[in-house]
Amino acid sequence: MAALKPEELKSLEERFREKNQTCVILGASGETGKELLAEILRRQLFSKVTLIGRRKLNLEGPLYTNVSQELVNFEKLDESAAAFQGHDIGFCCLGTTKAKAGADGFVRVDRDYVEHSATLAKAGGCHHFVLQSTKGADSSSRFLYLRVKGEAEARVQAVGFDRCSIFRPAVLLCDRQESRPGEWMARKVFGVVAHFFPTALSVPTEAVARAMINLVVMPGEEGQKVEVLENAAIHALGQA
Ligand SMILES: NC(=O)c1ccc[n+]([C@@H]2O[C@H](COP(=O)([O-])OP(=O)(O)OC[C@H]3O[C@@H](n4cnc5c(N)ncnc54)[C@H](OP(=O)(O)O)[C@@H]3O)[C@@H](O)[C@H]2O)c1
Repeated sequence: MAALKPEELKSLEERFREKNQTCVILGASGETGKELLAEILRRQLFSKVTLIGRRKLNLEGPLYTNVSQELVNFEKLDESAAAFQGHDIGFCCLGTTKAKAGADGFVRVDRDYVEHSATLAKAGGCHHFVLQSTKGADSSSRFLYLRVKGEAEARVQAVGFDRCSIFRPAVLLCDRQESRPGEWMARKVFGVVAHFFPTALSVPTEAVARAMINLVVMPGEEGQKVEVLENAAIHALGQA
């Protein structure tokens, strides 16, 4: 996937705005999700933005006038089916860790909540779903993390969106508030590697967010329902 030229991007954005589309974001309170929300609002691409999450975010000010929040219980998501109605595009940046939620909790969030949300979004009219997965996702992996991410990808694809975009970033570079010592150490190391080999092992969350939006404003390839973006493609498309 090649980087977009500024004038090309500008004209794609103008055409996209004319369509008056709406979107829903799952995981907007997370590191990637909050970058995604900020970028969406900065570019004013959607007539309505809905955040679906388990807690209310403090979003005050004129910037947020077309943003609404829906609080849901992900264990009883069918009860909140109405919250998923009426969105053209769905972004999913949900996820937890085994350390935080235990193995079962991780599977529940990263696969089951993701699949259920995608299903409800499709039923509510969503035609393009963008899923944040991970580098190495593989439903036949012997590693729980990669296997569950691969299973989530397969289940979201099976929902049958007109267009399904799967992002597979490597280690996310961001200033994470939450303490994750292993990831913190990895980020320090990858931060150094990133200096010499920027696209190899990591990607800043801002670049992931920009790449998601840049992809969404581009028309999909004729006849291709599913597209998978590996880390290098995310870097290329997510350039400022
Ligand atoms: N960390 C990495 O280096 C890395 C690398 C590649 C891919 N990824 C994947 O990229 C995605 C986004 O990662 P991130 O680091 O940006 O996310 P993050 O900061 O951990 O945020 C995750 C989001 O999921 C929500 N969430 C977590 N547990 C939940 C639960 N039990 N019920 C409802 N919502 C829940 C969080 O809501 P709350 O704010 O309410 O907790 C938050 O909005 C994840 O799927 C992750 O696996 C991560």
